[in-house]
Amino acid sequence: MAEISQAGAIGIFDSGYGGLTVMKEIVKALPEYDYIYLGDNARAPYGTRSFETVYRYTLECVQWFFEKGCPLVILACNTASAKALRTIQQNDLPRIAPEKRVLGVIRPTAEVIGNYSATENIGILGTNGTVQSESYRIEISKFFPDASIYQQACPMWVPIVENSEYDQEGADYFVKKSIDQLMDQSGKIDTILLACTHYPLLMPKISKYKPENVKIISQGHIVALSLKDYLNRHSEMTDRLKINKTEGERHFYTTDSTEDFDRHASHFYGREIQSHHVEIQHTGSFTAIKTVETN
Ligand code: DGL
Repeated sequence: MAEISQAGAIGIFDSGYGGLTVMKEIVKALPEYDYIYLGDNARAPYGTRSFETVYRYTLECVQWFFEKGCPLVILACNTASAKALRTIQQNDLPRIAPEKRVLGVIRPTAEVIGNYSATENIGILGTNGTVQSESYRIEISKFFPDASIYQQACPMWVPIVENSEYDQEGADYFVKKSIDQLMDQSGKIDTILLACTHYPLLMPKISKYKPENVKIISQGHIVALSLKDYLNRHSEMTDRLKINKTEGERHFYTTDSTEDFDRHASHFYGREIQSHHVEIQHTGSFTAIKTVETN
């Protein structure tokens, strides 16, 4: 068991590997910070789980980041952002860590997605959890009140990606099926948002089955630009983050097998990764999470 202190790092969280597609863009835009990534692979997927379960798992992981010394945590997972973020921000943070911040990926994406569409007819592809939460419809309507939003859950896409089947022939059926189901809702859709951080790995197949005039938007670069803007506006936060002269440190953790994580993660992150294992044990109280870390 080894406690590694990474005080002042930015925490990036996902249920599994998907958040690495967001981290890749964040690190590119803001290389000078230290980052800790946690994939809760042992309990993924989150997309089919209840609000209560996603909230509990996410809060446990957020508390782990706080114990590691992260003043800021990004939920690089749409499902966790949809089902847990608001409760954590409004109910838990004031009680457990009023000086820390947890940000999600839905609001920064909703703020700009209407700018990509000429017809203001926008398709959202996400997990069951994200779609059922209606978070995108609610958030986009605040910034683009005239936009029409069409949503389609793609329950098979995360398992396909997590099992490294995204470039195999079997994936074609499910990718085509979900895109067709979305496009059947309206022929006016000209922009499709990949509202799940796993989906960019399916981009070649999505491009193959989408109508020619439809744009596909993945959110990594949108979230990275939004974080950059947030940090420019919040010096009280940058004062608490470690800023390096050149590149900061990157550390990767998984709640499941490090061998599996390292093998799959490089496809999402674009370079080799050496992860550590961490067990996040729920002790019955949200204010008393016990974490066990192994190298
Ligand atoms: N990558 C997550 C998201 O963006 C979901 C994956 C899962 O179902 O665990 O929604």
